[in-house]
Amino acid sequence: MITGDRAIPGPILVQTRIRPMVREDLDRVLAIERQSFPYPWNRAFFEEELVENGRTTCLVSVYQGKVVGYYTAWHVAGESSLNKIGVDPDFRGQGIGSRLVEDFLASSFGRGSEDCFLEVAVNNGPALALYEKFGFEKVGVRRNYYAQTGMDAYVMRKKRKEEA
Ligand SMILES: CC(C)(COP(=O)(O)OP(=O)(O)OC[C@H]1O[C@@H](n2cnc3c(N)ncnc32)[C@H](O)[C@@H]1OP(=O)(O)O)[C@@H](O)C(=O)NCCC(=O)NCCS
Repeated sequence: MITGDRAIPGPILVQTRIRPMVREDLDRVLAIERQSFPYPWNRAFFEEELVENGRTTCLVSVYQGKVVGYYTAWHVAGESSLNKIGVDPDFRGQGIGSRLVEDFLASSFGRGSEDCFLEVAVNNGPALALYEKFGFEKVGVRRNYYAQTGMDAYVMRKKRKEEA
């Protein structure tokens, strides 16, 4: 919700909670995934992310008992990587994606990561805008990153500390 030049939490965001993803969430997560990506991850990929090894974060956004968004991330050797983020199309544009990115950054830097990375298709305008809003910068291009489409991806990074 936008008032003047400032985004303020709308009613849906205020009532949305973030909690760890569990296997019982996967039907909803997969439904959103299929609505969000031309080549969605399958259940096995998410189950792999959910294996507790101290290096992954898998969270969902829940509105009135319904999963409406999610992200998964890895934390390895001082770096964190946002692997997946998706919001139910019926709930986009209301700050849920921003809240998830905020959580990714806070939990990554909070556990000591120096850098956060992600890859995003070069033609994914909404996602690029979301990441740039949080200070991610393009640091490279991976050619033909998405095998099925041949689309290139930007590598984006946000550092914990600004470079002097
Ligand atoms: C990208 C995505 C997660 C954003 O979720 P969301 O809940 O709509 O995000 P928000 O409402 O918090 O919007 C955050 C910012 O994203 C940008 N944004 C969101 N929707 C946009 C749109 N349709 N066009 C342009 N920018 C957009 C804006 O910068 C916005 O900030 P603002 O509201 O302050 O202007 C969602 O669009 C999605 O699930 N897309 C499909 C999956 C995907 O592409 N994931 C990323 C893969 S790298």
